[in-house]
Amino acid sequence: MKYDFDKVIDRRHTDSLKIDYVPELWGRDDLMPLWVADMDFATPPFILDALKQRCEHPVLGYTCRARAWYEAIVRWQQMRYGWTISEEWLNFVPGIVPGIAFSLHCFTRPGDKVLIQTPVYHPYILVPKNNGRVVVESPLKIKKEELGISNEEYPESYSAAEMTIDWEDFERKAGECKLFLLCHPHNPGGRVWKHEELVRLAEICQRKGVLVVSDEIHADLTLHGYTHIPFALSCEAAAQNSITFASPSKSFNMAGLTSSYAIIPNPDIRAQFATFLENSELNLGHLFSFISVAAAYSHGTEWLDQCLDYIQGNIDFVEQTLACEMPRICMIRPQASYLIFLDCRALGLTPEALNRFFVEEAHLALNEGVMFGKPGEGFMRLNVASPRSVIKQAMHQLKEAYDRRF
Ligand SMILES: Cc1ncc(COP(=O)(O)O)c(C=O)c1O
Repeated sequence: MKYDFDKVIDRRHTDSLKIDYVPELWGRDDLMPLWVADMDFATPPFILDALKQRCEHPVLGYTCRARAWYEAIVRWQQMRYGWTISEEWLNFVPGIVPGIAFSLHCFTRPGDKVLIQTPVYHPYILVPKNNGRVVVESPLKIKKEELGISNEEYPESYSAAEMTIDWEDFERKAGECKLFLLCHPHNPGGRVWKHEELVRLAEICQRKGVLVVSDEIHADLTLHGYTHIPFALSCEAAAQNSITFASPSKSFNMAGLTSSYAIIPNPDIRAQFATFLENSELNLGHLFSFISVAAAYSHGTEWLDQCLDYIQGNIDFVEQTLACEMPRICMIRPQASYLIFLDCRALGLTPEALNRFFVEEAHLALNEGVMFGKPGEGFMRLNVASPRSVIKQAMHQLKEAYDRRF
């Protein structure tokens, strides 16, 4: 079956965070919303059908965790990543950010230090801080690589740059910390961490006694040419010292259903986490989560492959447009997901002025790079999970503003 990703869907008046919240956040309603990480494509029909079918039954009473939920997750992890997991390793969490918060409460105390790699998904900064933990940043570096896209006007261009770990810094700071939040694949850097990097992270964290929380929400969106290796699969040290969080919420565009899960191979860590959740009944789950996860993972391969092809096409389009028409804006090419970190540092604007340029001159609502930590200064994060026509219009608006100003 061929799915249609070109169709523009009017999402207004659905209480959508991405669309309906723009006037409140930006104070205006003339912006094209390309910010928060959900997709403008229809949630796949096999998920909607499964939910509709359940709603045919008139009673929505208390519901147990469906067998199909366990089986679908085990099958998916095996099929997609070659990771053989056991059903008992699984637990429901109502979202990965809540899962991260639960891990902090369960495995750290107020005042303990939590290691993150900035620029990074901003709740990694906010959740520990808001819960009295101390955030320790090990900033990522940008490694330049030649892609072969010529860019004469702006020789500093690096379309194929990737973010890498400053190992010396990481190791030194790990020594102070109790827990490390690994963003894998990384948002907003788009990195799919390699096997040797994962093993090295695992080895350092094990040696320093730092528990690793691996957030793999973007894993299913790994792009062509890259392979996602679950952290816990990379080596025994990783398996025995980690909590993995995963979810079909990004890859199948069902973030509103808050249907995530934890995978914990180590029985002691698992028991401690499970007790923490059970004491407050945080892991009950809900009827629609079990149905939607099972449907996504049971019928989703073909849809996801087509979706990834489409996203890849959008990324290529943005990359070519920037290289040819706006050479002072470069992009870090994502290896996974639909979020592009635009390097606008060559425009020479302060973070405030950069945001004003995007909002007031290009009429685009993007995430400001600085919200992901100080190393994100001068960057903007663009979400390209929209129909091509929308992305083309966005790039057109950006180019008009760019030409007027630079
Ligand atoms: C890296 C990362 N983790 C977690 C989330 C959100 O997860 P959830 O909605 O399950 O809390 C996002 C959403 O953008 C994300 O990018």
